[in-house]
Amino acid sequence: MPYAHITGWGMSVPDAVLTNHDISKIVDTNDEWIRERTGIGERHIASANQFPSSLGVEASIKALKVANLRPTDIDLIICSTSSPEYIFPATACLIQDQLGATKAGAFDLSAACTGFIYATNMAAQAIRSGSIKNALVIGTETLSRFVDWKDRNICILFGDGAGAFVLQASDQPGGVLSAVMHSDGSGGDLLTLQGGGSRYPATEETILAGRHFIQMDGKAVFRFATRVMAQATKEALVAAGLTIDQIRWVVPHQANIRIIEAAARGLGLPMERFIVNLERYGNTSTASIPIATVEAFEKGRINAGDKIVFVGFGAGLTWGAFVAEWTGPLPTKYHVYPEPYRWFARVRSWVRRAIRFIEGLFSRREL
Ligand code: ACO
Repeated sequence: MPYAHITGWGMSVPDAVLTNHDISKIVDTNDEWIRERTGIGERHIASANQFPSSLGVEASIKALKVANLRPTDIDLIICSTSSPEYIFPATACLIQDQLGATKAGAFDLSAACTGFIYATNMAAQAIRSGSIKNALVIGTETLSRFVDWKDRNICILFGDGAGAFVLQASDQPGGVLSAVMHSDGSGGDLLTLQGGGSRYPATEETILAGRHFIQMDGKAVFRFATRVMAQATKEALVAAGLTIDQIRWVVPHQANIRIIEAAARGLGLPMERFIVNLERYGNTSTASIPIATVEAFEKGRINAGDKIVFVGFGAGLTWGAFVAEWTGPLPTKYHVYPEPYRWFARVRSWVRRAIRFIEGLFSRREL
């Protein structure tokens, strides 16, 4: 049975930064309160022409470069997002088209902030089963589009960004060692984005009622999160046959520093063993775990052979964790350049649209 190794990684965040001071000019809050209660100092916010797909493509190209793979080598794209560009088509398909990943199946996965855990596990399972060789897992969000900038409970928390992992099959032991996934829909009402779905399709009333904004019972989500983070980490460790002492790093979902501190207490680990960067990004939902991982790698903190737990929680309610042994790129004979494929992909996409248009003209004549 092949192992599923993490062989590539990349991230992308918008240039625009919104500080706590900036937010204090919009709502009644201040830098001190936000830092003390959440640990967040600033977040990146997408501009009008940045979308989950464009951020996802940037992160994916970087991940493919690290893995030394072409977009055409990818068999499966799973895009985890809670801010998809449309209900359909899937954001994963927009990314597939922009990358020129012509061989890949592509779908979106909705598990809120836990999505990257679920998606990585799904990709790893597909590789372990032998049905695919190379997978691209993306977490990408522009949740700022669903934030009520008059609600100080919400607007201080979220930031935009994307992160991506490449997973590859190899006979060498390592890679994703175990995973656990959990859900409890009875807590679904604690964190919602209701407007625009089939229960509340967009109408004047839904907009006036603010249903197109994120609604959250912050305290209840906080209590839930502090309970499940340590528990999921322990379960994933048992499933991998490892003890916490064998773990080099924990990469938690970056929602609130107090939630991460509670997880550290629950695991009896010092905070130095946790990768934390939410001060500069806020909560980027499903993108937070890969963004934190990429930054930690680039700072030289993560090295090949490190055993790492990735753990998250989110709306649904959902939570989960996976354990991986960090690998890095697999040895290859050739060096490939994934970047130019984006430009081929544009031409290809345009040609396919043109062919469809011409086909349409002929089929009309035939009818
Ligand atoms: N600035 C100043 N004061 C504020 C602010 C603010 N931005 N927000 C709330 N307050 C006030 C409240 O009105 C309240 O005042 P009151 O006592 O006079 O009523 C006081 O501060 C305390 O408010 P709490 O809600 O008790 O603040 P708390 O310490 O719980 O922090 C927070 C709120 C940050 C939202 C916290 O509950 C939290 O982080 N919860 C988890 C949220 C989370 O992680 N969500 C993402 C889940 S992942 C996903 O799926 C997207």
